[in-house]
Amino acid sequence: MRVLALALLILFCRDAEFRKTRRNRENHGPANTSRKGSSIAKRYAPGLPCDMYTYLQEKYLDCQERKLTSLLPEWAGDLIHMLLARNKIRRLRDNMFSKYRNLKSLDLQQNEISKIGNMAFFGLKSLTTLLLQHNQIKVLSEEVFIALPRLNYLRLYDNPWNCTCEMESLITMLQVPRNRNLGNYAKCAYPQGRKGQKLKLVRPEPMCLEEEVVPVPVRAKPTTPAVDFSICHVFLFPILALDCKLKELQRVPDDIPPDIVKLDLSNNVIKQLRSKDFEDLHSLQILNLSNNGLDAIDPAAFSGLVNLHELDLSNNNLYNFEYGVLEDLYFLRQLWLRDNPWKCDYHIHYLFYWLKHHYTVNYSGLECRTPEEYKGWYVGKYVRSYYEECPKDRLQAYPDRDIDEDEFKWHEEHPKHIPTQKHGVILTLLS
Ligand SMILES: *[C@@H]1O[C@H](CO)[C@@H](O)[C@H](O)[C@H]1NC(C)=O
Ligand SMILES: *[C@@H]1O[C@H](CO)[C@@H](O)[C@H](O)[C@H]1NC(C)=O
Ligand SMILES: *[C@@H]1O[C@H](CO)[C@@H](O)[C@H](O)[C@H]1NC(C)=O
Ligand SMILES: *[C@@H]1O[C@H](CO)[C@@H](O)[C@H](O)[C@H]1NC(C)=O
Repeated sequence: MRVLALALLILFCRDAEFRKTRRNRENHGPANTSRKGSSIAKRYAPGLPCDMYTYLQEKYLDCQERKLTSLLPEWAGDLIHMLLARNKIRRLRDNMFSKYRNLKSLDLQQNEISKIGNMAFFGLKSLTTLLLQHNQIKVLSEEVFIALPRLNYLRLYDNPWNCTCEMESLITMLQVPRNRNLGNYAKCAYPQGRKGQKLKLVRPEPMCLEEEVVPVPVRAKPTTPAVDFSICHVFLFPILALDCKLKELQRVPDDIPPDIVKLDLSNNVIKQLRSKDFEDLHSLQILNLSNNGLDAIDPAAFSGLVNLHELDLSNNNLYNFEYGVLEDLYFLRQLWLRDNPWKCDYHIHYLFYWLKHHYTVNYSGLECRTPEEYKGWYVGKYVRSYYEECPKDRLQAYPDRDIDEDEFKWHEEHPKHIPTQKHGVILTLLS
């Protein structure tokens, strides 16, 4: 019965191909396909638009080989079969299919999927066939499939499965006799000792014994709904750019194409940058986050941005940087920091010394707003005064002591005026 179902599915696909070509040949005018649905795909991924058609009263979406990185929001919710093979999807995010309640088959083979959220298939209560072969999945937990009560055909082969403790629940599930059509042919690629063993046959029991027991990570509840980058405008020339300004975004959109060079997220309401928000954007050179009300940046938020040249953080609510925020930005050249309530206390030192150490970075706007006593000072001036208060510490901690910001020139020329008391500094500068 199940084999028959799959055979039928394959037949339908062939049949669709046939009908498509016939339609073109007979020149019956515009076919009833979803032109609207594919306009965004077309903008970013030149090629044929997606095909939507009904066959034996079941609605199909054929969007194979379109360089898609995510679903498109305008696809109808009443699809029964979704063909997304040979695209560029890298992640399956929680709830991304939840609108397709009637979906029976989902073909995601030959994408670049490496991560699947535990709730990715949430809502697919009718799904019977799921094809995930030829992807980059290393580990998956049984939990992912709990949302699929009717699943009876699952393909997992040609993924680099890492058969360690994390996989125990999935492997155990696949080996239950009634699941005989789930995960056939899939083999472990790691660790070395299990390489080539079939998931169906590998013994799950010792897996977690031989490793220290890793606590199950608590699933973070998404605080804001996921947003798809497709609400932004893509420009191909002169550089590949994504313009997402003024979109009322509350977070960095998902699945931004990895080859984007310029990303404008200015004038949104992104209050926080989360860890790995830009993880895959290795080509990104210009990032504009100005005017967002941003008040927190995770130390790993910019990780992966190894080619970033320009970063605009002006007009936000930042008061310091946590240690580590800037560590991946090897090629940063310009940094805009003005109009943020920089707080001049010990926590601002990381930002200041990073900039001092990376002297090729041209930055502007690093001015204290609080506390009142340093308001309007350059942060450099404040840091200098901090060490002037306790010269002995300064000598030990920063033997090179050439914090030569322009605003210090006066001191360099009048070394005898350097006071040892902070109040003295203020008086000297005022005079
Ligand atoms: C195509 O769509 C139009 C209107 O949406 C409809 O009237 C027509 O019957 C459809 N043709 C086919 C072949 O389904
Ligand atoms: C496989 O999983 C183990 C345990 O989580 C990890 O230490 C190892 O690096 C993984 N191997 C690969 C190739 O990802
Ligand atoms: C960032 O965006 C703001 C507002 O859209 C603009 O004024 C500013 O020039 C942009 N910054 C850069 C570096 O392009
Ligand atoms: C530094 O940036 C300012 C604009 O913010 C620019 O006018 C200046 O030429 C830049 N300097 C260098 C050395 O790049």
